Amino acid sequence: MTHTRVSGTGSYLPGEPISNADLIAGRALDSSDEWIVERTGIRQRHLAAPGVASSDLALEASRRALQAAGCEANDLDLIIVATSTPDFVFPSTATLLQHKLGNTNGAAAFDVQAVCSGFVYAMTIADKFIRSGSHKRALVVGAEVFSRILDWTDRGTCVLFGDGAGAVVLEAASEPGLLASAFHADGSHHGILSVPGQVCGGTVIGDPFLRMDGQAVFKFAVRVLAEVAHEVLDAAGMGADRVDWLIPHQANVRILQATAKKLHIPVEKCVITVAQHGNTSAASVPLALDEAVRDGRVSRGQHLLLEGVGGGFTWGATLLKF
Ligand code: ACO
Repeated sequence: MTHTRVSGTGSYLPGEPISNADLIAGRALDSSDEWIVERTGIRQRHLAAPGVASSDLALEASRRALQAAGCEANDLDLIIVATSTPDFVFPSTATLLQHKLGNTNGAAAFDVQAVCSGFVYAMTIADKFIRSGSHKRALVVGAEVFSRILDWTDRGTCVLFGDGAGAVVLEAASEPGLLASAFHADGSHHGILSVPGQVCGGTVIGDPFLRMDGQAVFKFAVRVLAEVAHEVLDAAGMGADRVDWLIPHQANVRILQATAKKLHIPVEKCVITVAQHGNTSAASVPLALDEAVRDGRVSRGQHLLLEGVGGGFTWGATLLKF
């Protein structure tokens, strides 16, 4: 039986970190470091320079993941990029990344649009390709430049997000790596988090900025993150006590703490990067994973529970033996 294992991780953050104080001063926001830290846990974020696109961030993260996996771009037969801030309307960011990486063997390449759940969705999709036997080695990337879709006059949203990318190489293996995964959506909640504009007739029609009902998002996120965690743990026949690291989408430290509490997982077992990165949407889970791998917290053989939740609404989880 073919299984899927993670053979390498990588990530990339653009430029120097921007503290809450510097963001507030630079954008003339009516806010404070105290408010942002107390309500969200966020202390800083990275923002891509003008002209730097999601595929550029994805490229750096992917090179690091390929190096960690000990393989070359042409060893890949599948490239999936999760992003809500693609370089273009089309072609996909995945095909642009394929070209920048120098993959010339005709690997399949496409984007997944599931907002902050995008990376977990893409992992689940790649796992199914690999376990079916149709593909052997996949690059799965979450890459975002959310700074491009923020209304910098809306203090309720613009302080929350950052730019970045994270990547994993997944490959066929004889021993189990990805143990269980689940992904879901409920489009009836599309109104609580969206960028409701569109390009039409050469202009933007509607609102091109991120709009959010923060409290509704908060409640929804905590509920579904706990539910989907139980779903994958049950599917794998595992108790939450066997999870070595919970690596959820990094939206808000209070959401992370509430989720860990609901799952009876000590918060010390939760990888938390939101303080340094802000919310990087589809990039947040692979960024957190790579950080914990590189600083030695995550090691081979450990059980990791990855979780995403985002606009749509979408949500999902992947339980894996690293
Ligand atoms: N600085 C200072 N004051 C602010 C700021 C700010 N940056 N933003 C909002 N406020 C004010 C509001 O105007 C309001 O003032 P008022 O009482 O005079 O009207 C007050 O703070 C309280 O606002 P609320 O929106 O009620 O604050 P809340 O405690 O709900 O916190 C927050 C807002 C942090 C957005 C919270 O709802 C939250 O974290 N929600 C989750 C949303 C999230 O994480 N989204 C990320 C994207 S979704 C995802 O990734 C899944």
